[in-house]
Amino acid sequence: MESATFRDQVVIITGASAGIGHAMAVQLARQGARVAIAARRAECLEELAAACRASGAEVLVAPTDVGEESQCKALVDNTLSTFGRLDMLVNNAGLAASALFDDYHNLDLFRHTMDVNLFGAVNCTYYALPYLKQSKGRILAVSSLGGKTAIPYNTPYCASKYGLHGFCDALRMELKPHEVSVTVVCPWWVATEFHAAQLNKDGVPRGAPRGKDYYTSKTMTADRCAEIALQAAYKRRREVLMGPGLLAVWLKLIAPGFLDWLSIKIFLEPAARRAREAQAKRE
Ligand SMILES: NC(=O)c1ccc[n+]([C@@H]2O[C@H](COP(=O)([O-])OP(=O)(O)OC[C@H]3O[C@@H](n4cnc5c(N)ncnc54)[C@H](OP(=O)(O)O)[C@@H]3O)[C@@H](O)[C@H]2O)c1
Repeated sequence: MESATFRDQVVIITGASAGIGHAMAVQLARQGARVAIAARRAECLEELAAACRASGAEVLVAPTDVGEESQCKALVDNTLSTFGRLDMLVNNAGLAASALFDDYHNLDLFRHTMDVNLFGAVNCTYYALPYLKQSKGRILAVSSLGGKTAIPYNTPYCASKYGLHGFCDALRMELKPHEVSVTVVCPWWVATEFHAAQLNKDGVPRGAPRGKDYYTSKTMTADRCAEIALQAAYKRRREVLMGPGLLAVWLKLIAPGFLDWLSIKIFLEPAARRAREAQAKRE
């Protein structure tokens, strides 16, 4: 049993059909929590529910598109009618579109990223808040280091995650009198479907990661990331940076120009080269 225990607590997890959200659901179920699992892919949620129930947990399967406000309201309403209370909301659902900003054909992908990563969290939080105030509960947001220091080739993603930080930081202060905590965790590189699901400028998932070295033995697993995130929420911490997060944030403070140079070398130049190669292959 994990040290952070959410026994008997009712938890909504968005983006539970895969990756970090899936791992959190499994861990919470093992800890004796009652979980409402939300994402778009119902069949993945059913499989997860079976695994959680095998650990003795009560589970609500709630197919939800968090970009749709009415579906987020339904998620909260169904959780309340099933379990009668709410102790934690995990805003984890997320995706990335990855291209140069001026290569997008229009702003649809930008808006879609904002709808899921930022408004998905805003929608769910809005409807969950009355119940979280009653339980003096917790909000856990899964952001990214891309919400602390910008990553070129990822303008929609960074805009959505920076927005998520602003939303959570302001909300934390507003909720202080109600004893509801707001924790933001910023993973770095986690081995999940996230990277293959990244959309290119045409809205097409870029597919399986390139090369066997894409994930190394040092890449964080979804399980480890989930464990850190749940611990942080349990301890009601405000923000947790993973991987090189602290270094990046310090560099941004003391040498922002150098950090830009580094990010161009690490992210922009290789991404632009890969896009050129893919284009050449298509022609
Ligand atoms: N993996 C990393 O390296 C990394 C690094 C930093 C931050 N993060 C953040 O961690 C969070 C989880 O990502 P992950 O790595 O676990 O990725 P993942 O394996 O691709 O999982 C993403 C989850 O989000 C759900 N989702 C996507 N669009 C949705 C929508 N419109 N409505 C409801 N659910 C939706 C997906 O489910 P459906 O497709 O079934 O809807 C899936 O369950 C994201 O917020 C991401 O930004 C990840």
